[in-house]
Amino acid sequence: MNVLVTGGAGFIGSNFVHYLRRERPSWKVTVLDLLTYAGNLKNIAELVEEGSVRFVKGSIADKELVDDLFKGTKFNLVFNFAAESHVDRSIHGAQVFVETNIMGTQILLDAARATGVERFVQISTDEVYGSLGPTGFFVETTPLNPTSPYAASKTGADLMVLAAVKTHGLEAVITRCSNNYGPYQFPEKLMPLFITNALEDKPLPLYGDGLNVRSWIYVEDHCAALLLCGEKGRSGEVYNIGAGADGELPNIEVTKTILSILGKSEDLIQYVADRPAHDRRYAIDYSKIKSELGWEPKISFREGVQRTVEWYKNNKEWWQSVKTGEYLKYYEMNYANR
Ligand code: NAD
Ligand code: TYD
Repeated sequence: MNVLVTGGAGFIGSNFVHYLRRERPSWKVTVLDLLTYAGNLKNIAELVEEGSVRFVKGSIADKELVDDLFKGTKFNLVFNFAAESHVDRSIHGAQVFVETNIMGTQILLDAARATGVERFVQISTDEVYGSLGPTGFFVETTPLNPTSPYAASKTGADLMVLAAVKTHGLEAVITRCSNNYGPYQFPEKLMPLFITNALEDKPLPLYGDGLNVRSWIYVEDHCAALLLCGEKGRSGEVYNIGAGADGELPNIEVTKTILSILGKSEDLIQYVADRPAHDRRYAIDYSKIKSELGWEPKISFREGVQRTVEWYKNNKEWWQSVKTGEYLKYYEMNYANR
């Protein structure tokens, strides 16, 4: 089995590559990644060095490179993680989100179709549904109503995938997962930002009233669901993936959990101006993937955060080397005048 993992040097992609190596050791894995600010070859370095994963540096939006790669290797399965993934960055500048998330996905779809890929998995997000009020859950038929440029670009990609299935008979599935956390997450997202800031005794900038609710899922649970969707999901279908009631928490509770595990003071919390169009609440109904594919999340929120905090405590060199250069400029731009 020949598998292409795009974005495999990023957070979820690299966790998935490690997961695949453990769960499907006989599969041949190629990673295609542009190594943007969010990509880090260190995340999969030992696998690349030992030769069990092939690494190709390049963009999914580079048609010539993608076409050559697909012609050179007959991929059976493609997992498309590659994306610009941060809502706040998409507010500061949306163009690259359109280029990578929509154009890049279309270029992959064309190459997959031309070379007879047997299954294409589009890693999408629950953010395509927009925001919930105080009650209810996202189901796969919830209308698409993205509010950020990031979410809008992911919605565009989802629609191109569905069009390729309907028009050309491509075998593809779409997964829509909620907020992930775990090892190797770039410290611009809430969980790693707050853990690493707390470790440095720096303020934790909580947007708005801190009561926005997310459904927090440990990344390994997401990886298990993705492999199942790749192997057994029905083509043309969307599968929601989420953590269930245990992981549905307002940001202030997530923040307090991090601080209590680290033994740090809640005085580090600093309320700052809200994000524009900040989605109020996400909650996932994952009964479809549960009943069709037998998937359920296994790691509780407390357990997942404990594991994640441990990882950041033990891998200071990893995040300290990332919190430099471009990151500091972004941090200044996003947080200075809030
Ligand atoms: P990430 O930002 O950590 O990683 C993205 C990776 O894609 C990086 O390695 C980056 O170098 C690479 N990349 C970016 N542009 C590229 C391009 N043009 N060509 C090739 N590679 C490129 O993101 P993540 O959090 O790991 O998210 C992975 C996927 O999962 C994304 O598609 C995202 O929309 C989706 N998703 C993320 C979450 C979450 O909570 N993080 C939740 C649901 C879905
Ligand atoms: P984030 O990790 O950026 O994920 P997403 O916006 O894709 O859900 O943010 C998670 C939640 O945390 C979201 O409600 C915004 C909030 N947040 C803050 O309060 N402060 C921050 O510095 C960041 C990055 C996020």
